[in-house]
Amino acid sequence: MTERPSGAGSRAAVIGAGRMGHGIALEAARGGFQVAIYDTQAGRAEAAIAEARADAGDLVAAGVNQADDIPTIVGRLTPAKDLESAAADTEVVFEAVAEDLEVKRGVFARLDRAAPAGALLLSNTSSLAISDIAAACERPERVALAHWILPPHLIPAVEVAPGPQTSAATIESVRDLLERLGKWPVVLEREMPGYLINRLQFALLREAMDLVGQGVASAEEIDLAVRGSIARRMPVMGLFGQADLAGLDVYRQIFRYLAADLSTIDGPPAALDDAVESGRTGAAVGQGFYAWTEDQRDEALRRRNDELIRLLRADRGA
Ligand SMILES: NC(=O)c1ccc[n+]([C@@H]2O[C@H](COP(=O)([O-])OP(=O)(O)OC[C@H]3O[C@@H](n4cnc5c(N)ncnc54)[C@H](O)[C@@H]3O)[C@@H](O)[C@H]2O)c1
Repeated sequence: MTERPSGAGSRAAVIGAGRMGHGIALEAARGGFQVAIYDTQAGRAEAAIAEARADAGDLVAAGVNQADDIPTIVGRLTPAKDLESAAADTEVVFEAVAEDLEVKRGVFARLDRAAPAGALLLSNTSSLAISDIAAACERPERVALAHWILPPHLIPAVEVAPGPQTSAATIESVRDLLERLGKWPVVLEREMPGYLINRLQFALLREAMDLVGQGVASAEEIDLAVRGSIARRMPVMGLFGQADLAGLDVYRQIFRYLAADLSTIDGPPAALDDAVESGRTGAAVGQGFYAWTEDQRDEALRRRNDELIRLLRADRGA
């Protein structure tokens, strides 16, 4: 192995093996966990293992693992016949089922009974409150948010948040576990709608989509501006580092002129409503803010992943 497996000998489970689940499972396996994968859809867990095997090539390209490591890592992934057998004897369970409160509560109620008392039960919810999910459990103190970002094998940050009943020990264990997996745990003090990453992302999207709706600039011009300016600095400086470099007095002055003019719309932006209502729901249907052929979509995903791989290599000083 390129890196010492951190979860060697330990068992983890992933419940829900779709876009997110297969990548989370790969990351847990890369950290040395034996990972049981359960999905209600017949054949989905097996398909997720094949997807994880394909994604593992990116890890070799990123220099995170060597090609020789991959069969061992993928060999740690096994399909489970039901949720109970997946959760048995686990140290940690990652839930990545559909974003539906009743479905998640049903899953957590069963996990609470099936997983060992000390197991961490972690939800990948993008928008639901951990407290609402944990309410289905007898032991809500070991339930927390661990929100991975697509694609989980190439994005280092994982957002972590407690519900009001989550213990401090649980949060420290989640932080430690994610660090052992080589991820960047971003730990919030409390739950809140959208948590941190979606709040930031949607604040920027609200402004950008509102500007498109007002006819100030096209989606192409705004993406050109983002890709050619603020997004170039963000990987290095973040937001606050950049503000410190620019000078906080300058930023305060800009806020004085600008804050009252920024978008405050309290629902979906009109440009987004228009797109969705006219069937332009994005790359999957060939039209969103841009027109897409299947080849263009595949090429965009490849270019995005290549750039994420390049950043991972840079993180490692490679
Ligand atoms: N897709 C993203 O970009 C993204 C990013 C971060 C977080 N999330 C969150 O991750 C979760 C999963 O999202 P996704 O995009 O992977 O969805 P997905 O639809 O690709 O996969 C969900 C999987 O869960 C399975 N499933 C549904 N109910 C189940 C149950 N009761 N038990 C076991 N399996 C069940 C489905 O069969 C499906 O394979 C959601 O909570 C979502 O909000 C998604």
